Amino acid sequence: MRTVLWREGKVEVEVPDPSLYPPSADAPVFFNPRAKLSRDLSTLILKVLKPPQVIDAMAGTGIRGIRYAVEAGIEDVVFNDINPRAMELIQRNLQRYGIEAEVIQEDVNLLLQRRRFVAIDLDPFGSPSPFLSSLGRSVTHRGVVLVTATDTSPLAGSSPLSAVRKYHSVVRKLPWFREMAVRVLLGYVQHTLMVWEKAMLPVFSFFEEHHIRVIGTVVKKPSAVTEAAKQIKIVEEVGPLWTGRLHDREVLAETIKHWDEDYGRRALKVLQLASEEVNVVGYYHIHLLSKQLGVSPPSVNKVINELRSLGYRASRSSLEPKGVKTDAPEEVVKEVILRSSSPTWKPTGRP
Ligand SMILES: C[S@@+](CC[C@H](N)C(=O)[O-])C[C@H]1O[C@@H](n2cnc3c(N)ncnc32)[C@H](O)[C@@H]1O
Repeated sequence: MRTVLWREGKVEVEVPDPSLYPPSADAPVFFNPRAKLSRDLSTLILKVLKPPQVIDAMAGTGIRGIRYAVEAGIEDVVFNDINPRAMELIQRNLQRYGIEAEVIQEDVNLLLQRRRFVAIDLDPFGSPSPFLSSLGRSVTHRGVVLVTATDTSPLAGSSPLSAVRKYHSVVRKLPWFREMAVRVLLGYVQHTLMVWEKAMLPVFSFFEEHHIRVIGTVVKKPSAVTEAAKQIKIVEEVGPLWTGRLHDREVLAETIKHWDEDYGRRALKVLQLASEEVNVVGYYHIHLLSKQLGVSPPSVNKVINELRSLGYRASRSSLEPKGVKTDAPEEVVKEVILRSSSPTWKPTGRP
């Protein structure tokens, strides 16, 4: 396997040469340069949450865990991957930083069934569902879960039967599908934790390209589990899904303070948008609504300002650039769009 040195965040690690091995399950060791944003955001958030221990449970090259140790200052990082070729790479990367860490080669389900971990990072190919019950069993009270899903097609409503199989949820294509996808995933993660009498308090949720990531703290407390169960509902005939908060504003405000240029502008933007979001389910997709009304779309900021001047709460969505989150009813949003935009020119057929 040809490797290269890869700089990311504040580390430099050895990874399979991305020009020779595209990110796929067939690569000798998996590495996706485009997941940098996900790693940046997770590292920054762990810097604030500071769990005493994290397991990078599907580690690949170990880049996540190494960033958690070096940048987030996590004392005890455990690495695991089922792929024997990943072991050598992780060991070499640990040596570069003089980190002494436990490196395990085991099926993640078996490992999480037999051992408890404080914070668990689950970064599988596709759906995390086959691993969630083990995660729910393993994670401790006051722990943290960080879960990736890259099977956005069932979550976003493009493969409804697959969503029934993988997420036990009935989905359909809705204009706010990006948030729906995140909420369906959160609902299912929450459900698998509740089976173990634990609840997840979401800290940060995001959807970028074909990548969804949810991060939350975990409590093992009956009242928290009851409260979480109340937030799992059916909305617009979709569900079950999570209707509670997507982000923890206070943690995100702290996280932003740790940002610098090494984490990239996009990470800062996503964190800012997420921390300013109005806490309602869904968003109005301004372009789709404008199309429906036959007018050219006004700017998202203009719609937000108008809604605020009418006394409603309104913000952008961190998940959808054309989305407006607001407690205003749809009729009001439509009126605002009609007032703020010029009609689309349509030929009348008359001379
Ligand atoms: C998407 S990659 C992880 C990428 C890595 N976290 C990163 O940020 O670069 C998924 C990893 O899970 C490992 N894997 C797949 N099935 C596994 C299982 N059942 N138990 C443990 N590891 C597994 C694969 O070998 C692969 O390295």
